[in-house]
Amino acid sequence: MKTVITYGVFDLFHDGHRSLLERARALGDKLIVGVTTDQYAYQRGKMCLVDPIEKRIENVKKSGFADEIIIEDHHGQKVEDISRYHVDIFAIGDDWLGKFEYLENMCQVIYLKRTPDISSTLLRYSKYPFLKIGIIGSGRVAGRFMREAGYIREIQVPCVYNPRLDNSESLRRFLESHTSVMKVRTLDKLFDQTDAVYIASPHETHFGYAKEALKAGKHVLCEKPMAFSREEAEELFEIAEANDLVLMEGIKTAYCPGFVKLISIAKSGLIGEIVNIESCFTRLTPPGLREWTDLRYGGSFTELGSYILLPIVKLLGTEDLEWNFRSMLNENGLDIFTRLEVSKGDIIAAGRCGIGAKSEGQLIISGTKGYILTEAPWWKTTYFEIRGEDPNYRKRFTADFEGDGMRYEIADLLYRVQGHEGREFKLKKEESVFMAEVFGSFLKGRTENAV
Ligand code: CTP
Repeated sequence: MKTVITYGVFDLFHDGHRSLLERARALGDKLIVGVTTDQYAYQRGKMCLVDPIEKRIENVKKSGFADEIIIEDHHGQKVEDISRYHVDIFAIGDDWLGKFEYLENMCQVIYLKRTPDISSTLLRYSKYPFLKIGIIGSGRVAGRFMREAGYIREIQVPCVYNPRLDNSESLRRFLESHTSVMKVRTLDKLFDQTDAVYIASPHETHFGYAKEALKAGKHVLCEKPMAFSREEAEELFEIAEANDLVLMEGIKTAYCPGFVKLISIAKSGLIGEIVNIESCFTRLTPPGLREWTDLRYGGSFTELGSYILLPIVKLLGTEDLEWNFRSMLNENGLDIFTRLEVSKGDIIAAGRCGIGAKSEGQLIISGTKGYILTEAPWWKTTYFEIRGEDPNYRKRFTADFEGDGMRYEIADLLYRVQGHEGREFKLKKEESVFMAEVFGSFLKGRTENAV
């Protein structure tokens, strides 16, 4: 009895896959097929699979060549599987030639000829054209977006717009570092060349640009805060819905696998009922930057408030909440530190943020049976623990967080623009609308709330 094993993603199952499975099966008496999870595929740079894992497994099953199907979810698993299943032959397409020498002392390694001119990537390209994203704004975050978008093959960034054009130092630097991107002189030119926009301009311009882009029929990924009032945010979503466009607020933590897992676990009952949430994000920012000088929209809360609000909103929802702020202001009236308190019935939550004060960037979610501790920087969630009364009790959770984390929201934008559903829950419309309302009330009361 000869056991053969092979692995693959098998997205948009095609003849190349079928042929490979057929030939692998013919090498022995039993074929085990390992199907890669989305998360593991993500780690290897495949951020934009079309078929969910259930469908990919179903297609492998339907081919009729697999005697057993297993899930592959981590690096090194092949070593375990070969021992566990007493594998005699490891077979894989010859695009992997030479990559599996490390298995040769455990079993025979056979590279099978790859079927020419077909691949999941080619099928994805022909099914869904490249998404062309134009960037509005050319500051620090625009550069970060470029680096992260580079990990998603299905995305192109043809152009960037900054109204200050020839007088902008940030635009000059941006173009120097990203030579494939052209500057455009008007927004219309940007819209002509793109399907979507990423808005990375100063805060107060987000709403206006988002509205113009949506009206021009473009999908929008807008940096936080997307708007400064409930009405503005609602208006944007109405235009998006009426025109069948995707509108997403770019709070990157919301889209990262670790944060999604953290929220699910917090809601799962493992720590009992939630009674308190404490989130903190401080970043000492050099005076002279926009955060310190923009008298209307600068300060800590407009800069970092979206982060500290996010877990509160995800866990308490957006209904029946009351909130207030206490801020320490600079001489120019901007808050260098703000504490936000939110309550829903007897559940209390607090968020602290600062550009001129430093504190521990933790997120603690307390429940009736235990608590979840996510150490700094919790907004780049890779690890968290459940702890309880017994100091020795520690339940640990880990998750992926690749690069700067922004690639997850870019991948979700692409996924949603392609018409797939099932990721909207990561940051819902009503959550963005609620946050816009909180920002509005903060700006209105900044001076009154000073300590
Ligand atoms: N394969 C093949 N011939 C092809 C495409 C894939 O023999 N034309 C093989 C691969 O070498 C691998 C298996 O099928 O052994 C699963 O490959 P997978 O990575 O899932 O498919 P690809 O089409 O190569 O996917 P992508 O384009 O996303 O890399």
